[in-house]
Amino acid sequence: MPAPNIDTIVSLAKRRGFVFPSSEVYGGLGSAWDYGPLGVELCNNVKQAWWRWLVYERDDIEGIDSSIILNRLVWKYSGHEATFNDWLIDCRKCKGRFRADKIVDNKCPSCGANDWTEARPFNTMLQTKLGAVADDDPTALAYLRPETAQGIFINFLNVQTAMRRKLPFGIAQVGKSFRNEVTPGNFILRTREFEQMEMEYFVSPTAEHSKLVDYWVEQYLEWFGSLGLNRENLYLYEVPQEELAHYSKRTVDIMYRYFPEREKPWEELMGIAWRTDFDLGTHSKNKLDAEGKRINPDSTEDLSYFDEAAKQRFYPHVIEPAAGVNRTVLAVLMDAYSEKTNDKGETRVILKLSPQLAPIKAAILPLAKNKPEIVGMAKAIKRSLQPVLRAVYDDTGGIGKLYARQDEIGTPFCITVDHQSLEDEAVTVRDRDTWEQERIKVTDLAEHLQKRLKPFPVPESI
Ligand code: GAP
Repeated sequence: MPAPNIDTIVSLAKRRGFVFPSSEVYGGLGSAWDYGPLGVELCNNVKQAWWRWLVYERDDIEGIDSSIILNRLVWKYSGHEATFNDWLIDCRKCKGRFRADKIVDNKCPSCGANDWTEARPFNTMLQTKLGAVADDDPTALAYLRPETAQGIFINFLNVQTAMRRKLPFGIAQVGKSFRNEVTPGNFILRTREFEQMEMEYFVSPTAEHSKLVDYWVEQYLEWFGSLGLNRENLYLYEVPQEELAHYSKRTVDIMYRYFPEREKPWEELMGIAWRTDFDLGTHSKNKLDAEGKRINPDSTEDLSYFDEAAKQRFYPHVIEPAAGVNRTVLAVLMDAYSEKTNDKGETRVILKLSPQLAPIKAAILPLAKNKPEIVGMAKAIKRSLQPVLRAVYDDTGGIGKLYARQDEIGTPFCITVDHQSLEDEAVTVRDRDTWEQERIKVTDLAEHLQKRLKPFPVPESI
């Protein structure tokens, strides 16, 4: 049973230290969120799982970390300055301002009127100014990147030559992106500051691009499965021609059931796009348009690739799987949410997170906190596990309460140290999902827990 709605997760997230509303002491800042002690661990675990899966376990992908602020010309030639727009309309009656594509039945969502201004474009790149310059100096204008992808394209040649790569190969990057969203909302689903995990997979112009899109869709479905997402809560959306971005010939979105309570429950989790050779071509000094004119007179580099075998120079095509960290975290939390009733008829929340993603892997709980020998043994076990996995010590309540607290934050194992432990050098390991308990020797504990923290499946390379 996944969470019945996003609000259930908002409340759990705040109560248990995953996500807090940002700037709360000043009344908040619309749709900005801060990740708490458990949230930061969960985000890191998602990002590490992704990085391990693509960069370490495959042999055809490199990683980079480019700047957030790039030369403004990057955004001119990528097309973002001209086209990264939302279309805005104003309600003449209540003066509310909305995204034109989100209006249902032509009715104002605030007052119900049907009296609109003309739609006009609003560029959603967030602006800043570089250096100690006058407010109105146009040369100081810069943007916070709206996607991590462009930092990859402009480094294509650097990575390819430094790492002596041949096609096909990919470059992965994870990091913050910014968009001045007109209608942010739904918790961490749509915010102005968010994190992306993007990978640009460079292939020959004669590769089977559409098949590669399908291949990456399958890979990501498997990966999301390994994070614990139920396939029934994922849906593939073939983006129609008229909705494709200017650079794309085909895009498939993987949607997640973020709104199970609604008639239309799906929202985008990630997209997989065939971006053609648009990006490498547009940033290249030698690429010509149909009339034989250079399309980019500002570029000092040519991002073409020489294929030794075919003795041909060309601009590689790109297949791009682009995912959001925050949307993955929200989907993972919603899918992991479950409730269980104990012997006393009390309903408990259990967050059935994949053990790899759980912020805390093991909680060491002394059964008697007034017994120094038991406390000492429990603390020593915590210290001995820490180099192997994330463990915490907790003695701030009765055992029932401590178990419930760990279940609610998704800790897969609770380890209880009791009077018997002093005699037999063994502890009780309790499973989060089944509540079953087994007795394990302290000397075997680290190995026992590691075996049960199942590894992610290793994907095949193309
Ligand atoms: N480079 C292609 C690109 O950026 P996108 O579909 O605009 O494509 C990719 O973004 C992913 O980034 C989305 O599927 C979503 O997971 C995440 N994302 C985009 N805008 C977001 C926002 N305002 N808040 C949270 N996540 C967002």
